[in-house]
Amino acid sequence: MGHKGISVTGLVCYVAFFLLPLHSANGDVSYSFPEEMKRGSVIGNIAKDLGLEASRLSARRARVDTDGNHERYCDINLSTGDLTIAERIDRDGLCGKKVSCVLKQELVLEDPLELHRISLHVQDINDNSPQFKKDVIKMEISESADKGVRFSLDEAHDADIGHNTVQSYTLQRNEHFILNVKTKSGGRKYSELVLDRELDREGHHEIKLLLTAMDGGTPKRSGTVVIHVTVLDANDNAPVFSQAVYKASLPENPPLDTVVVTVSATDADEGLNGEVTYEFDDVSDENSNVFSLDHETGKITVVGPIDYEKESSYEMQISAKDGLGLASYSTLIIEITDVNDNAPVIYLQSLTNPISENASPGTEVGIINVQDRDSENNRQVRCSIQQNLPFKLVPSIKNYYSLVTTGELDRELVSDYNITITATDEGSPPLSSSKSVQLSVADVNDNPPVFEEQSYKAHLTENNKPGASVCSITARDPDWRQNGTVIYSLLPGEVNGVQVSSFLSVNGDTGVIHAVRSFDYEQFRSFKVHVVARDNGSPPLSSNVTVSVFITDVNDNSPQILYPAPEGNSFMTELVPKAAHGGSLVSKVIAVDADSGQNAWLSYHIVKSTDLGLFTIGLHSGEIRTQRDISESDSMKQNLIVSVKDNGQPSLSATCSMYLVISDNLAEVPELKDISYDENNSKLTSYLIIALVSVSTFFLTFIIVILAVRFCRRRKPRLLFDGAVAIPSTYLPPNYAEGDGVGTLRSTYNFDAYLTTGSRTSDFKFVTSYSDNTLPADQTLRKTPTDFAEEFDNSDSSPPELDQS
Ligand SMILES: *[C@@H]1O[C@H](CO)[C@@H](O)[C@H](O)[C@H]1NC(C)=O
Ligand SMILES: *[C@@H]1O[C@H](CO)[C@@H](O)[C@H](O)[C@H]1NC(C)=O
Ligand SMILES: *[C@@H]1O[C@H](CO)[C@@H](O)[C@H](O)[C@H]1NC(C)=O
Ligand SMILES: *[C@@H]1O[C@H](CO)[C@@H](O)[C@H](O)[C@H]1NC(C)=O
Repeated sequence: MGHKGISVTGLVCYVAFFLLPLHSANGDVSYSFPEEMKRGSVIGNIAKDLGLEASRLSARRARVDTDGNHERYCDINLSTGDLTIAERIDRDGLCGKKVSCVLKQELVLEDPLELHRISLHVQDINDNSPQFKKDVIKMEISESADKGVRFSLDEAHDADIGHNTVQSYTLQRNEHFILNVKTKSGGRKYSELVLDRELDREGHHEIKLLLTAMDGGTPKRSGTVVIHVTVLDANDNAPVFSQAVYKASLPENPPLDTVVVTVSATDADEGLNGEVTYEFDDVSDENSNVFSLDHETGKITVVGPIDYEKESSYEMQISAKDGLGLASYSTLIIEITDVNDNAPVIYLQSLTNPISENASPGTEVGIINVQDRDSENNRQVRCSIQQNLPFKLVPSIKNYYSLVTTGELDRELVSDYNITITATDEGSPPLSSSKSVQLSVADVNDNPPVFEEQSYKAHLTENNKPGASVCSITARDPDWRQNGTVIYSLLPGEVNGVQVSSFLSVNGDTGVIHAVRSFDYEQFRSFKVHVVARDNGSPPLSSNVTVSVFITDVNDNSPQILYPAPEGNSFMTELVPKAAHGGSLVSKVIAVDADSGQNAWLSYHIVKSTDLGLFTIGLHSGEIRTQRDISESDSMKQNLIVSVKDNGQPSLSATCSMYLVISDNLAEVPELKDISYDENNSKLTSYLIIALVSVSTFFLTFIIVILAVRFCRRRKPRLLFDGAVAIPSTYLPPNYAEGDGVGTLRSTYNFDAYLTTGSRTSDFKFVTSYSDNTLPADQTLRKTPTDFAEEFDNSDSSPPELDQS
């Protein structure tokens, strides 16, 4: 087996090497091995020889490439790094007579791109035997020929080279001839038949000799030819070529029948003996189908395609023979010159497709290899891509280019690129070719959803149905598929201590916000929630927006009368001093409305009264005043029915009754109880009679009792009511929201109330605030009839002292 030689050379000649120092220095390796090795035979471990990690070969997409024109003869085993035979390598077929048969291959590695030249030196093995063109060489030799005359013999050909080619000739032992072996320039051996003892026609008319050619291989191989000598009695001369070597030059792709050169040999003989015929000496040359040799004229013409890229020179042996078989030999060398007939070919060696949009500028996207089968300038190739793309071609090693990004990619702007690579050679005229590469940009979740508005406002009328749609929000995300799919959700939070999820829900897909429950303006006027739009990427991106929900008021609350207490069992009355002048404030109706605005703007009207002309009520203040001075003729008991209306559409109202007693003395009002039930003035007459009788009776009894007490015990008078009186805060409607609503009663509202005590002359004026809890909640102005009874019971046992001023 052959030996292995490695030479590692810095390929400083590669400009690319300087352009891209990133790429590691390239090394050349060469292997020498015999031809005709079996496929799969290992010829060396290239990973080891180049210092590469065998385990990384696969990841770096190591592969063997041909250097342009050739077939791929070897393979790399990616798991071991072994270089193996991929194709039958017949040195003799590939390299012919060339002394050194070198096949050029390349090892390509990516990431980073690396290129190593592999030279395969194919060693000859002695697999061909020497071969004569014909089985029989016919010669005619005159019997008068002198001793020592030489006759050239056909050369034996051996497809092998060097030592394995013809090294010696032997001639069968005979009486007349010996063999003289000669060496041509280039080492080719041929032989001459030398006449050693004169021929005698009478003795031998014909002589047959066996000529054996031997090569120098081990084992030796040989070939034979029979030399058939006919002894004549005429003299003869061999033809002579005008040149020992014919040289011609021919551009490739010549038209058929082009005459390359004309060889000629002259023969001194006359007639048939002087007729020279030309022939290719080697069978293989005859069969090459490229050139033909006119037997008679010696014109060599083109009969087949001539491609410089396949064969750049031809060397043929030609012979000229006369009619007697005497021959001479010459060598014909035809050099083929290159024509720029091959356009560059662009190979896309690798492509990262799609490329992620977040690839940083300078990312290698693909590797391009450009090959031009021509030579010299004709194979110098320039490569470019079209302008205005965020890509460029960076010349890399030799005829490799890296396609790299030059800027940021944004799939949302451009999602596909059509890159056209154009390669032009420097021949004249230049040839070019192009290839287009489709490159897609892969999405990265780099855009959060963006709401169409900075914030959303929604108005919702109170008392809505649960499930009512409140508003719709939309966020957009330009990313691809799930990276751009927006899902909406409520951000957890609380409004007044309640989870927002019990207020609103958002449809995750559509962004429509629904009310979960019915809202009461009197509870909330507005609240805010945060809605998150999240995409489905991983990791997801999100943004949030504030949705302000404003509840609009509906007139759904009737005015609520705080004072006087609504009709019922309560028993409230006002004393009006008899001396009250017109315009005196007598009492005040206090009402609130939980709604707001017009819905809470209250107006007060007297709808019914005992004496229409006596009292008026302030339209919006609710203050009840006398309209004129009280006169003696006025009924002592006055009853007003006051209606309180709000200004809503439609408006709601409430009514209350106000009992007024025109008296200076509480004692004069014994049958308050009756008044409270006196609702119908039309029945007044009968009631009045009963009342009068009762009052008189009561009064008489009262006077008697008082007098009796006064005489029996002298005591200090007591107030019927003591302490401050206030309307307690418990009168406020539940959940009454403080606010700035127009026309609603504030909790700090101050009101005046006239209350009467047992004293004839003293009016107690209380100025207090709702919220001032000056009294416990149960000590209110509201007194049930039983309370009155108790007071009277007490006064029975300890009557107050009447001030008789
Ligand atoms: C590479 O070498 C390993 C080990 O010698 C062998 O098992 C494998 O079949 C080889 N692979 C190829 C593609 O020849
Ligand atoms: C890409 O560009 C080449 C050359 O301009 C053109 O022939 C080809 O149709 C284009 N392909 C697409 C998909 O646009
Ligand atoms: C979404 O973006 C991620 C990176 O953020 C990416 O890996 C994924 O392939 C993208 N999905 C689609 C469908 O493009
Ligand atoms: C809502 O968005 C703001 C900025 O727009 C951000 O600072 C905040 O962290 C976000 N909140 C949540 C819960 O995502």
